[in-house]
Amino acid sequence: MKIFIDTADLDEIRELASWGIIDGVTTNPTLIAKSGRPFKEIINEIFKIVDGPISLEVISEKAEEMVKEAKTLVTRIPQKYRKNIAIKIPMNSEGLKAVKVLSKEGIQTNVTLVFSANQALLAAKAGAAFVSPFIGRLDDIGQEGMQVIEEIMDIFTNYDYKTEVIVASIRHPIHVIQAAQLGAHIATVPPSVIRKMVKHSLTDVGIKRFLDDWKKVKK
Ligand code: E4P
Repeated sequence: MKIFIDTADLDEIRELASWGIIDGVTTNPTLIAKSGRPFKEIINEIFKIVDGPISLEVISEKAEEMVKEAKTLVTRIPQKYRKNIAIKIPMNSEGLKAVKVLSKEGIQTNVTLVFSANQALLAAKAGAAFVSPFIGRLDDIGQEGMQVIEEIMDIFTNYDYKTEVIVASIRHPIHVIQAAQLGAHIATVPPSVIRKMVKHSLTDVGIKRFLDDWKKVKK
């Protein structure tokens, strides 16, 4: 399974990319605002750090404007990085129209704010390269988010859709394990959760014991 980092924090992207485990980046308007940096600065840097799909979201609400905004975003990225841009489009009828146009023109899209298998199916039919079901937000309202991932994976496998499933709105390391068990293509994971994934108390105890014992060895 590919791991994307779900943040616009350039320091975190730089650090975790240096671990060799980051395959892409997802951002959204909230994450960009949280980073406290100008959008221009983020897009100038992010493509240099990670060589994989980078999702940038449009904020227009009508299909025609979404397409226009997507194309403007593409032109703001240096030519050599353009293959990595994925335009995040919200899941609604206007979004589907925009996805259809953009995919025909060879621009990758990531349909976001997906909360049901039906929405994912429609996004795939419109030609989305990625769909992002938000499982944490479903869990938050008492609905089993992972069940939606299971349904989407079954449907995409049945019909051999090429659209990749990005498990999004991940809240803790167990979500990542479940996403991988279900065969999801990608999990987009906040830096705090990636840091928890790397940790195990027995690893820390083990390292300390080896180092302490090594001190007792006659050199
Ligand atoms: C995905 O692309 C989104 O940026 C993200 O996973 C949203 O998660 P949240 O529910 O924590 O805001």
